[in-house]
Amino acid sequence: MKLDQVANSGNDEFYTPEYAIKPLFNYIKPNSTIWCPFDEEQSLFVKLFREEGHEVIATHINTGTDFFNCEIPSCDYVISNPPYSRKGEVLQRLFDIGKPFAMLIGVVGLFESQKRFEMFANNDFEILYMNRRVAYFKDYCEQKPSLNPPFSSVYLCKGILPKQIVFEEINKAG
Ligand SMILES: C[S@@+](CC[C@H](N)C(=O)[O-])C[C@H]1O[C@@H](n2cnc3c(N)ncnc32)[C@H](O)[C@@H]1O
Repeated sequence: MKLDQVANSGNDEFYTPEYAIKPLFNYIKPNSTIWCPFDEEQSLFVKLFREEGHEVIATHINTGTDFFNCEIPSCDYVISNPPYSRKGEVLQRLFDIGKPFAMLIGVVGLFESQKRFEMFANNDFEILYMNRRVAYFKDYCEQKPSLNPPFSSVYLCKGILPKQIVFEEINKAG
């Protein structure tokens, strides 16, 4: 079975908890404008970056903005957790757009497709690796994230981290 099929459950509705977003705070310049292209207003990316004093532009397919077919808002960073079923296309579009970005994605099979191998070989990027696996919410009303993928998630970044690989400890309890 292809690793992409193992890594993709077929469900793109995985919502990110606070503890998996906080590690980015150290790397974002104050008072930035951040585009979250896979995020509705309930998204914790949107809420937490606003609490940190950033301006956030939240767009989502449900509110009429298709990431693959939209005008690029004026912003300093593009940050989100994208639909896993389209991670290669998302990353290619972000490299083409050329703005600094950070995308939270499953690490399994990331480098294994020939197309992505070529994309990574031809573009500069960084990885933020967390010490614990991220669990996800299946809806925004859940008290505790209940979706536990059997693989680690990393932030695939461009133009954000100070070196190619950065390790961050996360606190899943806090
Ligand atoms: C893995 S979920 C993450 C949601 C949110 N970023 C978070 O972390 O809580 C990815 C979201 O992207 C949405 N999506 C799928 N295709 C899209 C597209 N072409 N443009 C914008 N959003 C899309 C999905 O409906 C899904 O809600």
